Amino acid sequence: MLLNRKLKMGMVGGGPGAFIGEVHRKATRMDGHIELAAGAFDINPRKSRQMGHELLLDSKRVYGNYEQMIERELKLPEGERIDFVSITTPNNWHFPIARDFLKAGFHVMCEKPMTFNVKEAKELQTLVKKSRKVFGLMHNYTGYPMVKLARDLVRGGELGKIRKIIVQYPQGWLSTAVEKTGSMQAAWRTDPKQSGGDFCQRPEARRRWQRPLAFQQRCQRYSTCQPGFYRRREQSSHLGLRRPEKFGMASRASQLSLCQRAGWACPDMATRE
Ligand SMILES: NC(=O)c1ccc[n+]([C@@H]2O[C@H](COP(=O)([O-])OP(=O)(O)OC[C@H]3O[C@@H](n4cnc5c(N)ncnc54)[C@H](O)[C@@H]3O)[C@@H](O)[C@H]2O)c1
Repeated sequence: MLLNRKLKMGMVGGGPGAFIGEVHRKATRMDGHIELAAGAFDINPRKSRQMGHELLLDSKRVYGNYEQMIERELKLPEGERIDFVSITTPNNWHFPIARDFLKAGFHVMCEKPMTFNVKEAKELQTLVKKSRKVFGLMHNYTGYPMVKLARDLVRGGELGKIRKIIVQYPQGWLSTAVEKTGSMQAAWRTDPKQSGGDFCQRPEARRRWQRPLAFQQRCQRYSTCQPGFYRRREQSSHLGLRRPEKFGMASRASQLSLCQRAGWACPDMATRE
């Protein structure tokens, strides 16, 4: 059905100082066909209200938590209530929030990762099929022009027979104990109960999209390299994949990559691992 109005978006997460919520809001402004209509922006209800105020939202549409948002939005007439929700909370919240909004009849755009484990992912898949609602997952790197170009080059045969793919994702922002400095982003990312397997999926998601083949072998090593400082969650991964027809892939992802911080071109140099 073609709407003669903008889509109304609700947001969960994206409170004051949050990272990706504002990126979603910017994207909707650029798109021009979506308006932010409601939100439960922060785990702290006071900060959620503060964010709603800063965004000039109707205070009646700014909620203390997402359950309240579902309950009250459902009471609004169709066309006034939100059409979909954008989930921009830390990882541990993605599944329950997506599940509850789908059950309430809303479309969902969810930040990655979809869920914490396969069991939850399957439950969500069943629910999406049953609800007949849209469930979108933010593997946004697949939208990058360079990645699309790489896919087209492979599909068009311009690179010949692919024998090996090397994927790298170097970041350096966690190469010091930044979570001790009050960084909200670092605090939950270094807590396995909140972050789960967030980090190491990026290169894998990109590789699968470019060449969606099942793989035969997989070896994975995680390391927690922080001299004199122990973290409960891994910040680096090395992944090796081999296909039956000898097609191989090597992937390396790190948040301790010093060269990335220094702005060097070669991500394999001077990585403290
Ligand atoms: N696709 C990408 O490129 C990309 C990039 C960065 C982050 N992310 C994902 O985005 C998500 C958020 O990351 P971030 O860096 O913006 O985190 P962040 O810490 O900057 O912000 C999280 C926000 O969610 C709020 N929040 C937490 N629990 C909540 C709840 N139950 N209800 C309402 N609000 C709640 C926090 O108060 C905070 O405002 C993560 O899942 C992360 O994996 C994706």
